[in-house]
Amino acid sequence: MEHAVFIHGVSHWYGEVEILHNLDFELEEGGFVCVIGRSGCGKSTLLRLVSGIEKPRGGEIRADRRIAVCFQEPRLIPWLGVEKNVRLGMKGDRKKLRKDALAALRDVGLEEKALAWPQTLSGGQAQRVSLARALIRRPRLLLLDEPFGALDAITRREMQDLLAMLVREHALSVVMVTHDTDEARRLAGRIFSLEGGKLHPAVFDDYIV
Ligand SMILES: Nc1ncnc2c1ncn2[C@@H]1O[C@H](COP(=O)(O)OP(=O)(O)OP(=O)(O)O)[C@@H](O)[C@H]1O
Ligand SMILES: [Mg+2]
Repeated sequence: MEHAVFIHGVSHWYGEVEILHNLDFELEEGGFVCVIGRSGCGKSTLLRLVSGIEKPRGGEIRADRRIAVCFQEPRLIPWLGVEKNVRLGMKGDRKKLRKDALAALRDVGLEEKALAWPQTLSGGQAQRVSLARALIRRPRLLLLDEPFGALDAITRREMQDLLAMLVREHALSVVMVTHDTDEARRLAGRIFSLEGGKLHPAVFDDYIV
């Protein structure tokens, strides 16, 4: 089987501080993994390395290049309307891009907000726009860094259901960082804890992944 992500012997450090140590990890195509771990243990660093924003100091990382990333904060541009935010940075025919942006907004249930300003959206709606912005890129691999961390419990559940649906429909492979073990257990096929610079299968009191 092809790998969506293949990491072999990766080490990474900033200054004197080693963040990742000889880390191995594989994500099969269509797989969904969650990464949990203490604040500062290197989860976001790991996603940056997989996304290619940053290069590891040592080791090898291969990842599907059809990749999109969502962050904890939606990072919308305040002076652009929702639909323009979705297609921001995309090149090509404007008319087609606009159509694709509307289709992506429909996918996340937010077509009626196409012309709205970002600051008029709720937190959940803004995160939907962020997902639409990922989807318009037709990714095969989705990297999510605590995407629902700032949402209330009910909205969070809705967003989890939406994400699960999108992952199925678009046959996505997913690496998701979360602090919420319930969220991880709802969504992921496998859950890892990042500790001591390595990924370990997460162990819960009542549940072994
Ligand atoms: N560009 C950088 N330069 C120097 N140190 C950095 C840099 N980026 C991250 N670090 C350090 O690397 C460590 C890991 O940071 P990272 O953001 O990956 O943690 P995290 O697990 O995502 O934490 P959180 O759960 O709080 O988001 C931290 O100690 C952080 O201060
Ligand atoms: Mg982080």
